[in-house]
Amino acid sequence: MKKIGVYTSGGDAPGMNAAIRAVVRIAVSNQIETIGIHQGYVGMIENKMSPLQMRDMANIIQRGGTILKTGRSQEFMKPEFRAQAAQNLKNAQIDGLVCIGGDGSFKGAQALYAEHGIPVIGIPGTIDNDIYGTDDTIGFDTALNTALDAIDKIRDTADSHDRIFIVEVMGRNSGFIASHVGLAGGAEEILTPDNVISVSKIIERLKESRAKGKTSSILITAEGQKPGRAYDLADAIRSKSNLDAKVCILGHQQRGGSPTAHDRILASQLGAAAVQALIRGKTNLMIGIKSNNVIEIDLNLVTKNSKPNDNSLINLARMLSV
Ligand code: F6P
Repeated sequence: MKKIGVYTSGGDAPGMNAAIRAVVRIAVSNQIETIGIHQGYVGMIENKMSPLQMRDMANIIQRGGTILKTGRSQEFMKPEFRAQAAQNLKNAQIDGLVCIGGDGSFKGAQALYAEHGIPVIGIPGTIDNDIYGTDDTIGFDTALNTALDAIDKIRDTADSHDRIFIVEVMGRNSGFIASHVGLAGGAEEILTPDNVISVSKIIERLKESRAKGKTSSILITAEGQKPGRAYDLADAIRSKSNLDAKVCILGHQQRGGSPTAHDRILASQLGAAAVQALIRGKTNLMIGIKSNNVIEIDLNLVTKNSKPNDNSLINLARMLSV
C-alpha cells in the first residue's frame, strides 16, 4: 500500500473532516501518500483529485461540512462510468480507497472492488445513523444536538403561547434522529416510519394530556419519504379537531455546524482504523463501532441489511411525557 485515495460521498455530516484528517495523518505517518478525491464519485469519474499532505489537515478537526466536498452521482450507477473512475484511480496509482459516507456510497465502493479489484474500506458518515453493523455514524451526535437546541427553543415559545408544535427532523426513511431527539427533547409523540400513529389517536392523546393540565405539546415527526409531511399532519389535526398545531421543519441545518466532541472522537478512531485495515491488506469492509469497540464488518453485510430501529426510546418518551 503506497498510495491511498480518500473521499466523502452522499450527504455531508459533521465530523467528516476529522475523519479525513485521521486518514491522511495515519497514512502519511506510515509513508503512504494520500490523494483527496473531490465531490465523491463525481470527482472520481471526472478525475478531480489532488494530493493531501500532513499540514493540509491543520485546523479542520473542528469544521463542519467536508473539505473534499461531496456529491450524489447518478452516473456512478452505470458500469461504464465506474470503469472510467477505476481507470482514473489506476492512472493515479491509487492502491486502496477510504470511502466516508452512507449506504449508497458503500454500494459504489463495493462495485469498484467487485468489478475492478480496487481495495475499499468504508467509514460510516451520515447524520441519519441508519447503517447496519455500527452503533453510531459520524455526524449523528452533532445533528441530534443541533435539533435538540432548536427543539428547546421551540419549547419556550410553545409554552408561552400554550401551543402544539410539530417539529420535523431529517432521517430519510429511518427514525433514529426522531426517536433520539424526541426522548431528549421531552416530546409527547414521536412519529417515525416504524412508528406510525393515526391522526385520530394523536388527537385523542393530545386531548387527554390537555385534560390532565398540559398546556403545550411538542410532537416530533421523522421526514420519512416525504419531507414536509409535518404540514399534512398539522392540517389533518386541524380539520379533525378543534386543536391547532404549528409546524417547524428543521431541514438542512441538521447537517451543518462544528462536530461535537463525540463525533470528532468517533471520526478519528474510524479514520485511523480504516488506514490500518488497508495496511493489513483488508478490503470490502466497513469500520464501525459496537459497544464502544472499533470493529470491522463485511461491506456486503452492511449493504444487504437494514439497521432495526429501537422503538424503546419512543415508548420511554411517551411514558415520561405525562
Ligand atoms: O442522508 C442524510 C440526509 O440529510 C437525509 O436525512 C435527508 O433525507 C437527505 O440527506 C437529504 O438529502 P439532500 O440534501 O440531497 O436533499
